[in-house]
Amino acid sequence: MAENIHPIFERTVQRTERENVNGHHAGVVWLTGLSGSGKSTIAAAVERELFSAGHFVVLLDGDNVRTGLCGDLGFSLEDRKENIRRIAETAKLFVAAGAQVLCSFVSPTREIRSMAQDIVGADDFYEVFVNTPLEVCEARDVKGLYAKARAGEIKGFTGIDSPYEAPTAPFLDLKTENQTVEASAAEVVAAIKGNLSL
Ligand code: ADX
Repeated sequence: MAENIHPIFERTVQRTERENVNGHHAGVVWLTGLSGSGKSTIAAAVERELFSAGHFVVLLDGDNVRTGLCGDLGFSLEDRKENIRRIAETAKLFVAAGAQVLCSFVSPTREIRSMAQDIVGADDFYEVFVNTPLEVCEARDVKGLYAKARAGEIKGFTGIDSPYEAPTAPFLDLKTENQTVEASAAEVVAAIKGNLSL
């Protein structure tokens, strides 16, 4: 596939040079969890906090990315895998550019997340399990999708008739049920601080 391709990775401005200018390390904070678990809201709050602190931060979010880069993909496990492959490759490019990348995707299976980790590189990958029970996500049903899935109007909905495999050893197990968005965001920021400070 890479035949006749001559990458110039070593001739570009290097990541460490960029990290020194930015004043922080680059990396990928990967938020996984059910639809409605709070991934996007927490990721946006973390992004705002890091941005306010002067960090070079980027948020890649499921519903956003599916309007563009991954707009041709559906929700079969095969399409979800391709979705995550493209996101992980994109995140890797941003890491090379010195960014702290927040990725907020259901990314439902261990296989899919392990692929993402392999693409990004384990040293730069921080998995955050947005651990909100299905009953809570379904009771909230912010987008009305669980009701549609229960009514059979959406097929293959994560947690209903498509699998979600919880991470077994996440970098951070974020139990959101009994805390505010602000507290969850603060927990993420505190957890990554040590790893992403220069
Ligand atoms: S992933 O499985 O490929 O990682 P992604 O995070 O991009 O999913 O998109 C999930 C979002 O798409 C959900 O938050 C929800 O709004 C919407 N969605 C639409 N159909 C489905 C479905 N069948 N399963 C899960 N989410 C769905």
